[in-house]
Amino acid sequence: MLQSLLIVLHVLSVVIWVGGMFFAWMFTRPAAVEALEPPQRLKLWNGIFRRFFPWVWATIIAILVSGYGYIFLIFGGMGSAGLYVHAMNGLGFVMIALFLHVFFAPYRRLARAVAAEDWQEGGRHLAQIRMIVGWNTLLGILVIAIGAGGRYLV
Ligand code: HEM
Repeated sequence: MLQSLLIVLHVLSVVIWVGGMFFAWMFTRPAAVEALEPPQRLKLWNGIFRRFFPWVWATIIAILVSGYGYIFLIFGGMGSAGLYVHAMNGLGFVMIALFLHVFFAPYRRLARAVAAEDWQEGGRHLAQIRMIVGWNTLLGILVIAIGAGGRYLV
């Protein structure tokens, strides 16, 4: 029962975080470029991030609690976890670090630029967020492959 709850929490959190980034990068980004002028586009992204990022914070906490809960309560410690779990753990922290950087640097600056209606400055920060979120989406897909498929390889 506990094992099942931990995995469900882990996977649901991953779906929300990585799925959200995938949707933003693959579909919202090109559609917004097609349909909106820079001021509207920057306001839209600022509004999307304001709503999405609290969910990312929550999913990160849930991923860590469920991931370490699984390692310590089910596997009985780090030493008993497979190589793929260590890879997931390490790459998971790279993903978290990239998110923290986006949140505390370009996102804050984007929000300030939108409030000041400085579209040129806002565009620079949005471009930085776009690049980092693109890499984090790819990394997320890789970590999902490692997390879901790794146990059958080692
Ligand atoms: C950062 C710390 C993380 C820790 C400590 C951790 C730990 C774990 C553990 C212990 C399992 C169970 C492995 C098993 O049943 O053999 C697991 C499964 C999984 N994890 Fe993670 N994980 C972390 C981050 C992530 C991230 C960032 C992602 C995806 C972006 C992810 C995706 C998955 C997936 C897809 C599974 C497989 C679920 C299943 O098929 O049952 N994990 N993780």
